[in-house]
Formats: sequence, C-alpha cells, structure tokens
Amino acid sequence: MTVLDGKQIAKEIREQLAREIQELKLEGNVPGLAVILVGDHPASRSYVLAKERTCKELGMHSVLTELPESISENDLLDCIQSFNNDEQIDGILVQLPLPSHISESKVIETILPEKDVDGFHPINIGRMHAGDEHAFIPCTPLGILEMVKQTGEEISGKHVVVVGRSNLVGKPAGQLFLQENATVTFCHSRTKNLAEQTLQADILIAAVGKPNIITEAMVSPGAVVIDVGVNRLENGKLCGDVDFEAVKPKAKHITPVPGGVGPMTITMLMNNTVLASKWRKK
Ligand code: GUN
Repeated sequence: MTVLDGKQIAKEIREQLAREIQELKLEGNVPGLAVILVGDHPASRSYVLAKERTCKELGMHSVLTELPESISENDLLDCIQSFNNDEQIDGILVQLPLPSHISESKVIETILPEKDVDGFHPINIGRMHAGDEHAFIPCTPLGILEMVKQTGEEISGKHVVVVGRSNLVGKPAGQLFLQENATVTFCHSRTKNLAEQTLQADILIAAVGKPNIITEAMVSPGAVVIDVGVNRLENGKLCGDVDFEAVKPKAKHITPVPGGVGPMTITMLMNNTVLASKWRKK
C-alpha cells in the first residue's frame, strides 16, 4: 500500500513548470494569470492568495483583483472583459462561488475560452468531450489523473467509479478517465446500493463532500482510492470523503486529506496558465 504524497508530486511538477517558465521568459513570453475574488469569504480568500503566491514562486505574472460582495454583475463582466483584452494576461480565474445576484454561467461564458484556465467555459467542456487536445481541463480532475498516472498503474480498460457528479469535479473527472480508455461509472445521491457500485472499482474517486461516506466495506482489495473531499469537522480538523485509516490497509494506493489532491489543484492551474500562454503566442 502507498499513500500518495500530493505535496511531493506537486512540487516536482512545479519545478518542471518553473524551468519552462524561465525558457518562455527568454523568448519574451511571461505567462500571466488574473484572479478575481468577489466578496471576502475566508476559504475563497485563502485559496486565491495561495494561487497568487504560487504564480510568484514560479516566476509568473499575476494580478489579483478583489471586488466587493455588492458589485453588480455588469461591473464584474466589464472587469473580465478588460482582462480578455489585456495582452499580458493568458489566464483568467473568477473564484467560485459567487454572490447569488450574479449569474455564474454568465461570468464563465464572458471569459475568453482561450483564457479559461479553469476549463469551465462550455467551449472548453465541449472540446474536452470531443477529445480536442486544445481543451483546458479543469484543474482538480487534471490533478487526479496526474496522481493516478504517477502510480504507474495502467488506466486503459480499468473500471473507474466516480462518486459525485459536480460540474467542477465529478463530471469532468469521469470524462477525463473515459478519454484514457477506462470504463467509467458515475454514482450520486440517487444511486441505489452505492457499495455494490464502488466495490467494482479498480480506481475509486470520491468527490461528494461528506466525511467518511466511503467506508472500508465499500472498497475492493487492491483498489486505487482518490479522495477529493475537503470537509471541516466540528473540531476544526480537515477530512476527506473516505474513512482513511480503515480503507488504507485495503487500498493499493490512497490519497490523504489534507496533502493529497489539494496541492495538485493549484499546480494544475499553473500548468494550464503556461499552456494558455504557449497556445496564445504561437
Ligand atoms: N472554487 C473552488 N474550486 C474552484 C476552482 O477550481 N476554480 C474556481 N474558479 N473556483 C473554485
């Protein structure tokens, strides 16, 4: 059994990205990311600051725009437009969730698909489903795939079971593994007999947001278990969707929370921004 060290895998990818960024800079191409935060939700704020810090560490150009909770939808769309037109900016990320008076889909669809490093724009979703190599793939699913690839396990022909069908994680993660020639099952809150499904998994991806929803009895021996859940318990501790200590002895590879998929997500955002910069300036 191995516990997959997301921090270490992310660090190695970042070192590679930093080298690529240095080379791009020599050609006069500095990858640039614009991050927009609306309101002051503490978790969103800390994610956004981490994204900005990582940009700086890797030598990228970054701009953080903090807007008040009360901003109108039109003013936010204008802000996005100005980054669409900004030659120094390759990637634009609007941190979600947004206040309820702002339409998330309008915001996402205002970002130029060529700068949509989150991979949330319908054009990029469509490109991903079509297997287009110029699609931006959402960062968390991309991080999950990278971690599974790092295990050296074959993906083609394997049965991947995804628990959770969010637009940000579950749906694109399943699609990504389908592109890798896996057989994919999606499970969700209406799935009857969840354990019957999860026991079929060679690779089990838990992306629900409920502590310990995946128990030891739901995992088949030798499975690869990827835990995407980030749940804060009453005692302040973070935990995933998987009962880690109980499942660990049964799994061939398992990701911890924290320190598993989390550190990969920001790294994949940096990866997508470097790609955006290369694709736009070619
Ligand atoms: N909120 C939580 N995760 C994400 C993400 O990956 N991108 C954006 N834009 N907002 C998020």
